[in-house]
Amino acid sequence: MGKNILEYNLMRKKVSRNPFQVEVEEKLGRNDDCWCGSGRKYKKCHCSFDEKLDDYRRKGILVPPRRIIKNPDQIQGIHESAKVNIAVLDYLDEHIEEGVSTQEIDNWVSSITKKYNAVAAPLNYEGFPKSVCTSINDVVCHGIPSRDEILKDGDIINVDVSTIYKGYFSDSSRMYCIGNVSAEKKRLVDIAKQSLEIGLQYVQPWRKIGDLGAAIHEFVMQNGYSVVRDIGGHGVGLEFHEDPWVSYVCPKDTGMLMVPGMVFTIEPMINMGKEDIYISDDDGWTVHTEDGLPSAQWEIQVLVTEDGYEIISY
Ligand code: MF3
Ligand code: CO
Repeated sequence: MGKNILEYNLMRKKVSRNPFQVEVEEKLGRNDDCWCGSGRKYKKCHCSFDEKLDDYRRKGILVPPRRIIKNPDQIQGIHESAKVNIAVLDYLDEHIEEGVSTQEIDNWVSSITKKYNAVAAPLNYEGFPKSVCTSINDVVCHGIPSRDEILKDGDIINVDVSTIYKGYFSDSSRMYCIGNVSAEKKRLVDIAKQSLEIGLQYVQPWRKIGDLGAAIHEFVMQNGYSVVRDIGGHGVGLEFHEDPWVSYVCPKDTGMLMVPGMVFTIEPMINMGKEDIYISDDDGWTVHTEDGLPSAQWEIQVLVTEDGYEIISY
């Protein structure tokens, strides 16, 4: 009910209007500078990589556009940004407790981020009014911090932190259990965390990203929960939300090919009850479970490497 979720995702730039649009990339000579910005000659840099991609493309496989493939300098920059993101979350680990308002969490995020000369990516992003997303219990994601919202014993909360540092983006989130949380809710939080480990096993270059989503979905269903379909993960690093869209409910052997230099988030939203969600009419941001049951989410940012993955932000 409420807002249309596709429009919501398009507006928040979580998905591009046509993800299957074929991008025509410029053909380079062997002695030209590589398109990746490394400063090396094409033949010594991404030339054989491009030939490999062409083979996949000819087989009808969705291959990543150049603009989402990061060079070593960019990866270094994203790492620096992630240091700030992780420091913010580590601070929250120590300070979140019963009686704290979500506005206070926002204040902490804002001041720590500033201390590092960084910028909180959510603030003013497509009109988002605060520096961080705080999502309690039945709120799935994109909750807006407020003075009137006080953490109480038994709550579970996701705090989703995203940082811009020297133009590079990082994005990760953690769950916090406040006081005495029921065994039921604790298990939900644990399964959401474990699902990231499952997904990570499938992050390998030259494999399709759908394998990861399918594995997460299967794991979560086996544990009796559901996975939100309409909101997923995303490429990130040079912008807040880049391709690919990362689903956690898709069939295996589908979606974009993962290649070295891609950076994206793994952030499945796991519901205790049904997968259905709605967007609050009041603020246009807060996403709730339709059945009012709790939802949990952990988010990590990963880099695809030559032989697997590296976790950049967690
Ligand atoms: N980290 C969140 C996400 O990728 C941020 C959403 S945009 C915001 O979904 F404006 F709500 F912060
Ligand atoms: Co994200």
